[in-house]
Amino acid sequence: MSLVRLLAVLIIVSLTFSSSLMAKEIVIKFSHVTTEKTPKGKAAKYLQELVAERLKGKVRVDVYPNSQLYNDKEVLKALLLGDVQLAAPSLSKFGKYTKKWGLFDLPFLFRDADAVSCFTTGVNGQALLNAASKKGLKGLGYWLNGMKQLSANKPLIKPSDAKGEKFRIMSSDVLEAQFKAVNANPQKMSFSEVYNALSTGVIDGQENTWSNIRTKKFFEVQSDFTESNHGVLEYVLVTSSEFWNSLPKDIQTELSAIIKEVTLKETQWALEAAQIDKDYIMIAGHTKIHRLSHKQVAQWAKVMKPVWKQFEGDIGKDNIDAALKCNKQ
Ligand code: LMR
Repeated sequence: MSLVRLLAVLIIVSLTFSSSLMAKEIVIKFSHVTTEKTPKGKAAKYLQELVAERLKGKVRVDVYPNSQLYNDKEVLKALLLGDVQLAAPSLSKFGKYTKKWGLFDLPFLFRDADAVSCFTTGVNGQALLNAASKKGLKGLGYWLNGMKQLSANKPLIKPSDAKGEKFRIMSSDVLEAQFKAVNANPQKMSFSEVYNALSTGVIDGQENTWSNIRTKKFFEVQSDFTESNHGVLEYVLVTSSEFWNSLPKDIQTELSAIIKEVTLKETQWALEAAQIDKDYIMIAGHTKIHRLSHKQVAQWAKVMKPVWKQFEGDIGKDNIDAALKCNKQ
């Protein structure tokens, strides 16, 4: 072999060897169900940006919003199968994985979004982040959406107004019990199906946050909204333990720091959206928004609160007490 040929072979061999030593980029597929304009949608994009900036060439996040890839039910299975690596479903959708997160669905438990943040950043909230670990799911942080409101094609002013109405709910037994407590007819349904179900009359009403009501246009197909603030919509940013444990330690550390930063921004976006989106819906004028007096709120709370006792064993009284303590801060 000539010297030139020998050199060429050596170069090719060394290039092949060094490229095989270079770590492959880790791709994190993040699937969620809301639009990009929601607090969760913006936070997912922000996470993608920070990862692109700080872990360039090592990690990449691909975001799939608006149930493009998976809906509520499928995404958790996909996480465990390794088909996606991140999701941020509502805590109401984890009944098959842990009963403890039912806490967030207890009606009239949290006074407002600040009380929710007080709980999620406190000792009980942080411990609860691991509630689904036995099922292979790792909670990485809580993301807020906001307080939920009720709607139907009739005014819902007193609890008896809900009697017989078909309400879409997320897949939560606590939410089912909440609507049964007012003699309504709850129907578990994926988020992506709600608009059509409302517009075709398959369901009569729903509960959600101003952000989701605006971005999914539910206000265009419901005549009456009640500003009830009766519950909270809170997410958990979740991955599979298997995927997380497969990451190098330095990547875990950097990702954790990024998630902390994104979580702070997400909370701020959620608090802003609660006001901006409500104002937008009011100004749009498609629907009436009813405000309840203290007395009317107390009537709904009285009828719905017995649900707490029903689920106290699953959720833990200590967690309920810690949440209640946050209402006083
Ligand atoms: C819903 O299903 O109503 C919400 O959980 C959707 C979401 O992710 O905000």
